[in-house]
Parts: sequence; C-alpha cells; structure tokens
Amino acid sequence: MNIILLGAPGAGKGTQARILVEGRGMVQLSTGDMLRAARTSGTEMGQKVAAIMDAGQLVTDEIVIGLIAEQIDSDHPGHAGGFIFDGFPRTLAQADALGDLLARKGLALDAVVELRVDDEALVERVTGRYTCGQCGEVYHDRTKPTKVTGTCDVCGSHDLKRRADDNEDSLRQRLLEYYKKTAPLIGYYHAKGKLKVVDGLQPMEKVTAEVARAIG
Ligand code: AP5
Repeated sequence: MNIILLGAPGAGKGTQARILVEGRGMVQLSTGDMLRAARTSGTEMGQKVAAIMDAGQLVTDEIVIGLIAEQIDSDHPGHAGGFIFDGFPRTLAQADALGDLLARKGLALDAVVELRVDDEALVERVTGRYTCGQCGEVYHDRTKPTKVTGTCDVCGSHDLKRRADDNEDSLRQRLLEYYKKTAPLIGYYHAKGKLKVVDGLQPMEKVTAEVARAIG
C-alpha cells in the first residue's frame, strides 16, 4: 500500500507516519526530513535550501522530486509494506512527477489522507513541537511531553531539538505556501477518487484510528 499524508504544517503528518511505520512496516519518505538531513550534513544542496526552509518557502520542485526519485528507485529494502509520502507532493508538478515515478516502478497510489486542522490550532502545535535528534520521535510541550524531562522516551537520547522554522513568522509563510500551492492537490486527488479526509483536531489516538479506517 502506498499512501500520501496531506495537510498543513503541524497537521500531524509526521506523527501519524511514524505510527504507520511501526504498525505496518511501511517506509516513511519525508522530504522535510531529507532536506534537514542535507542541511545538517552540509552538502551543497543543504546549504542552498537552508535559508528557503527557515523563511517558510517551498524548495524547488526539481530538488524534492530528485530526492524522492532516488528513494523510490533505490529499491528500499523495507518497501514491501509500502511507502508513506509525508510532505510530498506539495505542488501539482510534484503530484504529476510522483504519478510518473510510481507508474515507472509498477506501483499504485492507494490513498491520499488529508489531515484537516484549523489554522489556530497549528500555531500551538508548531511552536510547542520538539524532536529527538537521534531517532526522530516527535514531542509537544503540552500534548506529548517526554516522560522524563530532556530524555527521549524511545531511544533515551538527550539530543532534543526545536526546528528553526517552528516560529509564528515562518509558520505564517508556510501556511501561505500551503494554501497557494499545496491545497489545490485536495481537488486533484478528489477528482482521481483517492482522497480521504480525517479530522486532525482529535486526540492523536483517535486520528490514528481514523487514518487506519481510511486506508483499510
Ligand atoms: P516539513 O518538514 O514537511 O514540514 P511541514 O509540512 O511544515 O510539516 P510539519 O513537519 O511542520 O508538521 P506535521 O504535519 O508533520 O506535524 P507533526 O506530526 O510534527 O517541511 C519543512 C520545510 O521543508 C518546508 O517549509 C519547505 O521549505 C521544505 N519542504 C519539505 N517538503 C517539500 C516539498 N515537497 N516541496 C518543497 N519544499 C519542501 O505534529 C506537529 C506537533 O503537533 C507535534 O509536536 C505533535 O506532537 C503534535 N500533534 C500531532 N498530532 C496531534 C494531535 N492529534 N493532537 C495534538 N497534538 C498533536
């Protein structure tokens, strides 16, 4: 099963993707994570995209399509459970490119799950978020704090980080980009009969149960 998780910044895509990876052996392909890894490792591409990401703008289609193509083409050892596209596609050009990439590999897109959340809730979600730098587990100051302050529940690391773009100014720009360039994908996938909508404002476990129901 190959699915897309669609939704505004902070809607819960990464959180739900990690749960699907654990429960169903799927492979999470997050373009945001790939771009952040490129920044940290200091590659030329990582340096080029850093300022764009911090400003809350979209990186070029060419770069992100290239990153995804590399992953799909590399016959990922875990891909038997299927791919979860998290934060990709974000433009119509990316959606078309994904269709072509999957078709080339003889793979189908089974569902597109839109996590729908009000803009007001997103500010609190994004400004309260922190992530484990070792295993990538996602936490929140209020809704999902670590059990022991400063220590990751999953891997025990103390390397807990906040993202440079998780502030109100950058979020405003990310939302603008979302409504201008990504929201048209809702109609695109609805027309293809792939769209399922889940109320992302519910508590995490309820969202998880609805996502499971939506993808079967
Ligand atoms: P990316 O990393 O993809 O960020 P995003 O889309 O803005 O999404 P987020 O990671 O912020 O949110 P999320 O939906 O995963 O929420 P999460 O589960 O963490 O992209 C970053 C940047 O990279 C972009 O701005 C762009 O520059 C670039 N980029 C990436 N992909 C690109 C592409 N395809 N094309 C061009 N540029 C690209 O949850 C958020 C918080 O809420 C967490 O603290 C979590 O614990 C909490 N939470 C989650 N669910 C719930 C719930 N149900 N109830 C209460 N709290 C919850």
